[in-house]
Amino acid sequence: MKFFLDTADLSEIEEVASWGALAGVTTNPSLYARIGGKLEDFENHLVKICKLVDGPVSGEVTAEDRDGMIEQGRTLAALADNMVVKIPVCVEGLAATRVLAEEGIDVNMTLVFTVPQALLAARAGARYISPFVGRFDDIAEDGLGQLDDIVTAIQNYDFGHPVEIIAASVRSANHVTQAALMGADIATVPYGAMKQCIYHPLTEQGLEKFKADWEKVKNA
Ligand code: E4P
Repeated sequence: MKFFLDTADLSEIEEVASWGALAGVTTNPSLYARIGGKLEDFENHLVKICKLVDGPVSGEVTAEDRDGMIEQGRTLAALADNMVVKIPVCVEGLAATRVLAEEGIDVNMTLVFTVPQALLAARAGARYISPFVGRFDDIAEDGLGQLDDIVTAIQNYDFGHPVEIIAASVRSANHVTQAALMGADIATVPYGAMKQCIYHPLTEQGLEKFKADWEKVKNA
């Protein structure tokens, strides 16, 4: 499973990219708002992210009609070679995905919560499909169970083009573990949960012990 970072924050991206395992970034309008992003800087900001990451970067359309999504999608895709156009799953979004996919533009279909939504996204030509685990849990549903069903359903078929499942709305290291065990291709993880993925108390304790014992060696 590959790791994407779910953020629009350049310093977070720079830091995690320096760890050596970052394969991509996903953003959305809320994440851009969270960093105080301005409308007029949006495209430039995406270009900056694309330069920091050696892998796909998702930028989301905000238009709500098919033609608007197509136009915005073309504009976003032209910003950088690694730009992926994120489109919400809905009638207009599926129709826009079909057109953009036929033009060779990679689409990440977002806000996916069910198997039929995921299958329709893949049939419309989406390269990436993003089931939201945490938000499904938030409404007392089984987010991981839903992800498992979607991974299984997508793996059952050949869509004639590559399709990768991105476990999204990830909230913890356990979500990452379970997504990997299910065979999700990618997990897009927020910065806090990404740090949680590295940390373990026994690793910390082990390091302390090695350090203390090495002092003994040096002083022997
Ligand atoms: C996915 O690409 C989304 O940006 C993201 O995972 C949303 O998750 P949230 O529930 O943390 O907002």
